[in-house]
Amino acid sequence: MSVVWESGVERGDRMADFLEQTYGSLAGAEVLDIGSGGGGISLAFARRCKSVTSADNLLESLLAVKARPDVEAQKNMRFTNLDAAALPFRAASFDLVILNGVIEWVGYGSPAEPARAVQLRCLREIRRVLRPGGRLYLGSENPWFPKHVLKDPHNSLPLVGLMPRPVKDLACRILKGRPYRNNIYSHWRLARMIRRAGFTAVQPFMPIYAYHFPFAIRSLDDPAAMLDAVQHLPADGLSPEYLKAGGGGPRTAWFYRTIIRLRLAKLLCHSLVEIAS
Ligand SMILES: C[S@@+](CC[C@H](N)C(=O)[O-])C[C@H]1O[C@@H](n2cnc3c(N)ncnc32)[C@H](O)[C@@H]1O
Repeated sequence: MSVVWESGVERGDRMADFLEQTYGSLAGAEVLDIGSGGGGISLAFARRCKSVTSADNLLESLLAVKARPDVEAQKNMRFTNLDAAALPFRAASFDLVILNGVIEWVGYGSPAEPARAVQLRCLREIRRVLRPGGRLYLGSENPWFPKHVLKDPHNSLPLVGLMPRPVKDLACRILKGRPYRNNIYSHWRLARMIRRAGFTAVQPFMPIYAYHFPFAIRSLDDPAAMLDAVQHLPADGLSPEYLKAGGGGPRTAWFYRTIIRLRLAKLLCHSLVEIAS
């Protein structure tokens, strides 16, 4: 695992910069980071928000985050071991919920139910714990990114993106010995599910080049802004490790320029950031 993944703070800073530039200061915000993993994103937000609740279903992850010296020094962080589909918080407790690289894992551990039903319940729970006017930041892979079509990003199965869900499930059972439960969605299907969960507004954004290590996050409805970010990669202040992890070689840049110019970015980009309120 790379240093920048383990630290995670630079990634969280890029996400927080994007949110502050787009929606205003986060200074007074109470934030819930669900599926906080290594904790760097939680930490980056804690440094500029009122408080952050770092939550994960893996207790070992949370304990490791708590033991980080940089986290120990940050006094406005709390830790909760939970399942994303059953949040142990009162309604209207948070201004911002972060769900980055998590929706595709929600439902993985509940095989008695279709993964989609568990994902929907998770989104409903998030709507419930958000205050009126609060926002969900959701980052996830796009199944129609050509490499993801060729090879599923979670199960390494070829072409499963093109298969109907029951066939995909059967292929996964035969080839991997387990059901297919890492549902990822196009922007349109994801937005529909988010609306079904009770959100009324969903805005799609493109992390450049992927949600794990974004250099910038731009509206998928603003080709000029996306093109500008691809052409002048905003990389200032980033560590060499982050620059490497974020990719962005000439082939990637060419691919992104092309899909933006052809108005196909929403369909074909690597990953999606949906902001819902
Ligand atoms: C791919 S990691 C993403 C970590 C972090 N959000 C990031 O962007 O670096 C997914 C995280 O979600 C957590 N997770 C998976 N399913 C979950 C669930 N049902 N409830 C809470 N956390 C979950 C995992 O333990 C893991 O820490």
